[in-house]
Amino acid sequence: MMDDIKNKTCKRQDELTGTIHTKWAGQPVCVYETLDSTNLEAARLAGQGAAHGTVVAARQQTAGKGRRGRSWDSPVGNNLYFSLLLRPEFTPDKAPMVTLVMAVAAARAVQQVADCKVEIKWPNDLVAHGKKLCGILTEMHLCAAQPAIDYVIVGVGVNVGAREFESDLQDKATTLENICGAGIDSMVLLEAVLVEFEGLYEAFVQAGDLQPVLEEYQALLVNLNREVTVLDPKGAYHGVARGITGTGELVVDTEDGERREIYAGEVSVRGIYGYV
Ligand code: BTN
Repeated sequence: MMDDIKNKTCKRQDELTGTIHTKWAGQPVCVYETLDSTNLEAARLAGQGAAHGTVVAARQQTAGKGRRGRSWDSPVGNNLYFSLLLRPEFTPDKAPMVTLVMAVAAARAVQQVADCKVEIKWPNDLVAHGKKLCGILTEMHLCAAQPAIDYVIVGVGVNVGAREFESDLQDKATTLENICGAGIDSMVLLEAVLVEFEGLYEAFVQAGDLQPVLEEYQALLVNLNREVTVLDPKGAYHGVARGITGTGELVVDTEDGERREIYAGEVSVRGIYGYV
């Protein structure tokens, strides 16, 4: 089943560079030249019975998906586009937390591989020098018969290779090589993300919440104690971000003295002077 799709090669993760071993995350990694979206392909493979831990990566995407129905610009070049298929046993309400676990794993991996300081913009963007480097899109599919998870797909896009952005993205987006220097191998980065994610995910599943990553997440949180604008569909408001709860909501002290816990599915957050 796994080898019948044109232009794809599936490898055990340690075959990619011969150095890194995981138990399940990235066993196998299926690398394609071009896909519409690695999230879409991971969903197709899931429908064919692909295993927990399967990774789909592509060198370019023609219909890369971003959060909130946006697209993710995915040109060919030294960039990382991949999706990890999970088959969790936890209840559907816990799935959004996986995104924050992945944010910590990706931040660790970038810091190791690129030797570059990154921060997290709640809930799951990696930023450096105030610009976005990496986005994460988690999608869940429920079983037909009962309210249980069939599978979860965690899609990660990292801008790696040096590149100029269109004028509308210039102030908001950057790449690892633009800020940390050239020579970053996106497959090495992929392996590092998977190694970090595997350990953090197992701790998260055991705990049932974000407690195992909470301290690290907050230390990386670019919004911490900063003024933010909360773009709530019912009306935008200002406040100061105070950290996250054990289930991933952003805690905001509003201008009128109220403390609110913001669920990422409903709103987005901006710094008062721009993107972070
Ligand atoms: C965001 O909007 O910040 C999330 C972007 C997620 C992009 C990645 S690239 C790999 C995977 N496949 C997709 O189609 N999207 C995700």
